[in-house]
Amino acid sequence: MINKLKQEIKDFLEKKYDNQVSIIVEEPKDSKLGDISVPVFSIVKQLRQPLPNVVNDVKNALVENFKIIQEVKTVGGFVNLVINKEELSFEVLSDVLEKGCQYGSSELGKGKMVVLDYSSPNIAKSFSIGHLRSTIIGNSLKLINRKCGYNTFAINYLGDWGTQFGKMIVAYKKWGDKEKIAKDPINEMTALYVKFHEEAKNNPELEEEAREAFRKCELGEKEYLDLWRYIREESLKESAQIYDLLEVDFDSYNGEAFYNDKMDGVVEELTEKGMLELDAGAQIVRLGDDMPPALIKRSDGGSLYITRDLAALFYRKKEYKFDKILYVVGNEQKLHFKQIKAIVTKMGYDFADEIEHVGFGLYLTNGKKMSTRSGGVVKLYDVLMKAINMAKSQIEEKNKDLADKDNIARKVGIAAVMFGDLKNHRELDIEFDLDNCVKFEGQTGPYLQYSGVRIASILKDKSIDLTKCDKTLFTKPHYFELVRLISNFQAVIEKSCLESAPSYLAKYLLNLAQSFNKFYGLEKINVEDEAIRNTNFALVKSIRIILNEGLRLLGIHYLDEM
Ligand code: ARG
Repeated sequence: MINKLKQEIKDFLEKKYDNQVSIIVEEPKDSKLGDISVPVFSIVKQLRQPLPNVVNDVKNALVENFKIIQEVKTVGGFVNLVINKEELSFEVLSDVLEKGCQYGSSELGKGKMVVLDYSSPNIAKSFSIGHLRSTIIGNSLKLINRKCGYNTFAINYLGDWGTQFGKMIVAYKKWGDKEKIAKDPINEMTALYVKFHEEAKNNPELEEEAREAFRKCELGEKEYLDLWRYIREESLKESAQIYDLLEVDFDSYNGEAFYNDKMDGVVEELTEKGMLELDAGAQIVRLGDDMPPALIKRSDGGSLYITRDLAALFYRKKEYKFDKILYVVGNEQKLHFKQIKAIVTKMGYDFADEIEHVGFGLYLTNGKKMSTRSGGVVKLYDVLMKAINMAKSQIEEKNKDLADKDNIARKVGIAAVMFGDLKNHRELDIEFDLDNCVKFEGQTGPYLQYSGVRIASILKDKSIDLTKCDKTLFTKPHYFELVRLISNFQAVIEKSCLESAPSYLAKYLLNLAQSFNKFYGLEKINVEDEAIRNTNFALVKSIRIILNEGLRLLGIHYLDEM
């Protein structure tokens, strides 16, 4: 509401001065100065009038038009406004209670389409912890974009094509025991993949064989394609298990293989536009001095990751007519996306600015990258199961008579892992520490769930009538602090959306929960006095609405009991 009011004041003043000036409405750091501050220097400069005249002019106009302004203090070139906290708070809470989970929605993206490319595991290997980040961040961004009014289309661009399949096929043909594989496909194939890398250390020719095997897939040789299909399907089953647990879904699973027959068009266009250059037998596109050239076709004619990505990009632009496309992919691929944008621009298209690489850091253990390649396997499924078990034992300890413990433990365990990721700004590396994520107190998902549960139990079977509240309570700092936070919800969601960073929302929710718990320590909420009780109930109910909706936007379940 403060944000809304700030915007309204800005619009009002800009209109008043015939859109000749741009006005920045601020919130003073020191609340003694007021709640909202309007610097008038830009108006003085534009109108060439004495400062005191402008200050008076602004002051009078605002007081006349905004009834919610209680007092104006002018300091130098600033017009500082004290807002009527009673009225403002009443409006904020009525708004939340009326809108419920719709509160915080906006029309930022009305009529616009966002395509999100996330998760996108390389399915010939075990689902890695790195792809967990993409999955969680991408899923939350989808929900956040929708909340901001965008239409979304979610794509799991499966890494189901490329030399890794050649490696699998070679390993399968050389060392694979068909019966063993049929019994336990994923583990057997992961073992084969690891074996391939070990053997290739001493026998580099294997790499060549793998490339050859993949070439045969590309050319559509039946035996190879059949093997590819088998491996793809079995690996997909593993990913599906993870998606079920996380409750993440997609509108399309068109992965790299889908574009196998769609790359020629791109290569032709690059040729026509004179952009391809022969370099040691390979076809490249030069992209200037500040980045290396992009390799479009290998010397043996094999296609490449970037070529498939270009084909996918043009296909998506045509098919989904996006206004924005988000690639939720690790920071290691920064250059790749920089090259894609540069190529698109060089080809003469104007939509490079719509392409956004939403990069993220690594998961670390003891400061080192967690890896699956070398067989030091951290199986994501096992990690999630462990989190769920840890949640279960905490529930056993704290609330052993709880009904449906398994179901709740699953929601708490998954929340722990998801929030443990999302609270960090995505660009940062994260030290993976499951124990810390699953705690019921501290900066965790379970803590947020627990705060919500606490409110749910206070409000159980209670009715709330905001018209019977005592508005004077809102002038108390610990009340108004909560209202102020509540009123910022939409702005925080929009920031998360515009910067593709769910961590702003995650941090905000922690802040809200902490402020609520502080409040809870200071005030008895369910009191005799009807007016005070209704004020308290309306306040905590609003917090509960926001906690629930905020968690939902992060892809996390809220709970009524735990
Ligand atoms: N499969 C790739 C990897 O794991 C990520 C794909 C990201 N999406 C894209 N359009 N390149 O590295």
